[in-house]
Amino acid sequence: MRIDILTGLPELLESPLNHSIINRGREKGLVEIYVHDLRDYSTDNHRSIDDYAFGGGAGMVMTIEPIDRAIQTLTSERKYDEIIYTAPEGEKYTQKTANKYATFRNIIILCGHYKGVDQRVRDHLITREISIGDYVLTGGELAAAVIVDSVVRLLPGVISDETSALTDSFQDDLLAPPVYTRPADYKGWKVPDILLSGNFPEIEKWREQKAIERTRERRPDLLDDNEERE
Ligand code: ADE
Repeated sequence: MRIDILTGLPELLESPLNHSIINRGREKGLVEIYVHDLRDYSTDNHRSIDDYAFGGGAGMVMTIEPIDRAIQTLTSERKYDEIIYTAPEGEKYTQKTANKYATFRNIIILCGHYKGVDQRVRDHLITREISIGDYVLTGGELAAAVIVDSVVRLLPGVISDETSALTDSFQDDLLAPPVYTRPADYKGWKVPDILLSGNFPEIEKWREQKAIERTRERRPDLLDDNEERE
């Protein structure tokens, strides 16, 4: 898979994309991630990528030209399955969207800016607006990092334990059950006996039961489509 990220603040993405699991995916050749500085596509002497809003109002707006040039350059080289713009007004990002993106070959993520982007970018150049939640970030870079992280960990071979991505919270609309490790008794706080029993079918049943209980307590909205489980 190939992910191209367009941003005015490439430094913000360095750390999240160069560590741990994402980096492992890159090193294994399972994902290529390119961060493009939108200023490199600006034609003005100051490399600016924003300007005053027509009609007045506080704050600068990201201009269309560098974004269009960057997108045209990339799309002339290959076909993209999705050109995403990160913004609080977008569709809410969920595990289902991450699963879908993990099947794509090429995506572009354009990082928004809290002051906004020329509406013509949204109308003509992108294919999807994505929000990572109902709160406002100063820019879309952190949202892009969230999208990349959640997608890359799903690519086959990135996480060494292949089943672990499939048993995540949300994969079956349930939150993950509790997990324990050694010691079996810490200051009298004991691991549930069933997990020490070696009875794996019963352990599986217990885990599913706990996942349902936890979901019912914390996120009953997720169970709405799964009444038959109860
Ligand atoms: N940019 C600012 N806030 C955002 C959000 N909640 N999701 C995606 N991009 C954003």
